[in-house]
Amino acid sequence: MKPRLYEIEVLGGLEEFALQELQGVKGVKGLDGPRFLYAGDTRTLKRLKSVVAVYVVESFFVPRPKALLGHQHLLHLVAFVRDVTSQDSFSSFRFSAAGRDSAVFERLALELESATGLKHLPEEGELLLRVVPGDEGWDVLARITPKPLSARAWRVCNMSGGLNATVAHAMLRFGGIRENDRVFNPMCGSGTLLIERSLIGPVETLVGVDKDPDALTCARENVAASKRGGIELHQVDITTADMPTRAFDLIVADLPWGDAIGSHDDNAILYPAFLKAMGRAVSKRGRMVVLTHEVRLFQEVLEEDGRWKLLSEVKVYHGGHYPRMYLLGR
Ligand SMILES: C[S@@+](CC[C@H](N)C(=O)[O-])C[C@H]1O[C@@H](n2cnc3c(N)ncnc32)[C@H](O)[C@@H]1O
Repeated sequence: MKPRLYEIEVLGGLEEFALQELQGVKGVKGLDGPRFLYAGDTRTLKRLKSVVAVYVVESFFVPRPKALLGHQHLLHLVAFVRDVTSQDSFSSFRFSAAGRDSAVFERLALELESATGLKHLPEEGELLLRVVPGDEGWDVLARITPKPLSARAWRVCNMSGGLNATVAHAMLRFGGIRENDRVFNPMCGSGTLLIERSLIGPVETLVGVDKDPDALTCARENVAASKRGGIELHQVDITTADMPTRAFDLIVADLPWGDAIGSHDDNAILYPAFLKAMGRAVSKRGRMVVLTHEVRLFQEVLEEDGRWKLLSEVKVYHGGHYPRMYLLGR
């Protein structure tokens, strides 16, 4: 098969995680920023865990998008769309482009509708077609899946404040993947980190706790949909729990940020209590990965607690915010 050009969409801050994941995919070549060449089965790309979406790129030697309406270019565009849509189940399409509401894009949409049978749904069309300036003309990028890859099939219960699955995957990679890890996810909410860890591969134990019974119900539904076994869930308030000593090798948590979940005043009490409890629960050579937007509070509390060493820190983009991901050791 001839290699084709692809482009990944990644949340800000997760670029290194996505590049590392792509480097592990057999057949990926010429990895340069978000673009790469690949001749293999696209089903492999649809399994990527740290990217929001994958697009296949087609270049058109046209001076402006209007020229895509010309006979030859239109045939080329229709063939491209047919090829992408033959590989997944798409029933509609939409454009993402500067001027997508213009008469040119309206005419392009009508042409594509009649040639492909796909419906043009400007807001929620499944096949997302991005039209962007290319090196020698214009590129059309087609998302290879009807939904973004970050919208996991296992997520049947959505919780307000739920973690983006690509960020969860990156947090777990940041902490390191070891088969004999006893992994703990305090404040597990809808279970994103637990399910994503289970999908990466074997692990000694995987335990999640939350004080909110509704969150745990949500997590149970998601775990059931994921068909992953071995995930323990318990109702526990982390601030009052009698944590077992040195019981976990990797602790991963996205703490309440005090906006969608919790409040800033609550966090001033929760964060030190959390660090103290985790200081007891982590094993001698254990690690902890924390995601929070309460950066100043977390750093102050970390210093006061004094038992954790900051090993690394990454700023990530998540739902309109720039929280930080901290890797901590003892
Ligand atoms: C940001 S949400 C976690 C979201 C989760 N990662 C997900 O993907 O759904 C924070 C969670 O912390 C829980 N929580 C807050 N205070 C807690 C406490 N003292 N003990 C246990 N859980 C707590 C909340 O109930 C909420 O589910």
